[in-house]
Amino acid sequence: MKFIFKHLIFAFIYIISLNLIHAGEGIWLPLLLKGMNEQEMQSLGMKMSAEDIYSVNKGSLKDAIAQFGGCTSEVISTQGLLLTNHHCGYGYIQNLSSVENNYLKDGFWAKNKAEEKYCAGLTAMFISRIEDLTTSVLQGVNSQMKESERRAIIEKNIQTILPTIKKQKHEDAFIRSFFNGNQYFAFITITYKDIRLVGTPPESIGKFGSDTDNWVWPRHTGDFSIFRIYAGADNLPADYSPTNKPFTPKHSLPINMTGVNDGDFTMVFGFPGRTNEYLNREGVRQIVEVQNPIRIALRDKTLKILDKHMRADVKTKIQYSAQYATIANAWKKWIGENQGIKFTKGLDKKQNQDVEFTKRVNSNPNFSMYKNILSQLDHHYKESENFNAAKDYYAETFQRNIQIYNFYSIVKKLITSNEKKGVKEFETLRNNYAIDIDGYYQDYQEKIEEEIFANLLQIFYEGCPKELIFPKLKTELSAINLDYFKYTNSLFQSSNFVNADKMKSFLKLEINEMKKALEDDQLWLFYEKMNEFIISDILEKSSQHDEAISDLRRVHMEALMNVFPERKFYPDANSTLRVTYGQVEGFSPKDGACYNSKTYLDGVIEKYIPGDYEFDVPKKLLELYNKKDYGRYAENGKIPLAFIASNHTTGGNSGSPAIDAYGNLIGLNFDRVWEGTMSDINYDRSICRNIMVDARYILFIVDKFAGAGHLIDEMKLVYPKKKKKK
Ligand code: ARG
Ligand code: ASP
Repeated sequence: MKFIFKHLIFAFIYIISLNLIHAGEGIWLPLLLKGMNEQEMQSLGMKMSAEDIYSVNKGSLKDAIAQFGGCTSEVISTQGLLLTNHHCGYGYIQNLSSVENNYLKDGFWAKNKAEEKYCAGLTAMFISRIEDLTTSVLQGVNSQMKESERRAIIEKNIQTILPTIKKQKHEDAFIRSFFNGNQYFAFITITYKDIRLVGTPPESIGKFGSDTDNWVWPRHTGDFSIFRIYAGADNLPADYSPTNKPFTPKHSLPINMTGVNDGDFTMVFGFPGRTNEYLNREGVRQIVEVQNPIRIALRDKTLKILDKHMRADVKTKIQYSAQYATIANAWKKWIGENQGIKFTKGLDKKQNQDVEFTKRVNSNPNFSMYKNILSQLDHHYKESENFNAAKDYYAETFQRNIQIYNFYSIVKKLITSNEKKGVKEFETLRNNYAIDIDGYYQDYQEKIEEEIFANLLQIFYEGCPKELIFPKLKTELSAINLDYFKYTNSLFQSSNFVNADKMKSFLKLEINEMKKALEDDQLWLFYEKMNEFIISDILEKSSQHDEAISDLRRVHMEALMNVFPERKFYPDANSTLRVTYGQVEGFSPKDGACYNSKTYLDGVIEKYIPGDYEFDVPKKLLELYNKKDYGRYAENGKIPLAFIASNHTTGGNSGSPAIDAYGNLIGLNFDRVWEGTMSDINYDRSICRNIMVDARYILFIVDKFAGAGHLIDEMKLVYPKKKKKK
């Protein structure tokens, strides 16, 4: 009896652990859920069918999801109210702000529809339909042909098929490759163009914790903002017009007011940008051991310099905060990625997969064509390693971490416009730049840029493979005994575009005078020579390896799918609509430590530092907290703030809805935990978690903090029965 019992327990643990291994990982195509995922999703607690999530016959969840710039957003009322992250709306909120009306600092709430503010350039793209076009796109292609031939046929097929895709006048279509070129799907889309800002909390809520807390759990950021879609009288996309009407969606998400508990099913529906889950060991090694350290080192230096200046001066702080946040976001992600790969022994895991792959290929004559893939991949990765290192060195040193490169690019565009389109075009462009020029230099200081340039130049020069440093730089630096500061200073001193005044004078010149002025512009000459070299000696020489790698990765992907028939494969993220799902759960970031899955408003108060630029708290929020004036948004007397779950998300999933078992909104995705940012190259359920704002915190802020209860009235609040706590 005891014996049987023991076995039962073992079987049970085994089933549970299998379950744990499979759920969580995967970025799935909505139209394939029925065959691939429905059963598993339901076994995790989902009460919907695949057809409720994606349907072409009826309104389904997908009709509430829209791409919003590089982010995701969702419709949460029958009047087109659109929810996304604060950091996704940031640029638009910033554009609408002025010194007198600083919506970033103070927040903004339209009291009625007339006060909602049009955001020029902002669009919301819905997916009407997805179609598998693999057979027709790959028509005429075979495995014997050269890769260049294959590509030409595919390109031609796509051009022929695209116009034949059935769509309405207001719809567009694009075709995208999946599984590294093994499958092709078409996306038929509807894009709305009149989007207006409805409300945003102040940064002290929407960006609470800022860079210090970015990528970090436990988290207390109310990272949301609210927009509204407007449409023409026919409810179809229309250019901005005051007579446009609030959009009536095919579906809008009801809001779950009872929240989540550990183990609850969750799914995230949105537009994840890019992952690389099927790299072999060498592919991951190169990212972790070569590329990430270069990028991290250069950004380390930049951030230290910026921080020093931003702390010393308030104006600098304001000017550079967006630049700082952008540089710091990827920097911190790469650090977390490397730590996570190490912590989960990611390279060993990849190695084991490669070994198993080779074993199966070698023992099955049907797979003989796959015999050399891994060795060929490794060969090309090794051959391209120095090139890739140099690409990162150049991009990080001379382009991404400094703004001066943007001004070089302006000058380059002017010169090229004259060459390509003639002097008329040149003059129009020049005059346009002249009008905006103060704006371009608004968040820029010459001295700071020069300091960064000189410091990064040294790291570049000491680290970049010697043969890939362009000759002009070598000669000139050697001539002054590698005095990086003197060298940088000479570049800046002679340049026409290092500050707004010089650029203004420069923009008054006619084309011939401009060209003359550039003859002595050392910074211009530096960038010109640098770019020539990058094209001729880096890009052209590495392209054979890059192309070989991309072709080999296609075959490798095909091979993986054939060689591991027991595995379920999902295509890497490529900015198309996807579903990921998992369960609410905490995690153990290291031996002896454990994180809960939920945070509360109480944590904001714990982190509160009066007057601090990251951890200040608005007075009104403190008052609500002190009075426990929580309305209907509390859970056991506390305001729920954020939670984590094992949904496989990535950049682009920001603003995606977190959806419960029934299809209600329970949260708003905005980040991942630092320990698990390696999920882009090696998802591991043990530590990969996505971070969501609890929907009730959003409603609490809208209603109690902002007094915008009329928005709540538009929404549909639901109270699904809560499972008893275990
Ligand atoms: N880490 C999140 C993402 O990758 C949020 C970034 C915005 N927040 C920030 N402090 N930079 O986009
Ligand atoms: N914060 C990211 C975004 O903006 C999401 C992530 O990388 O997890 O899309």
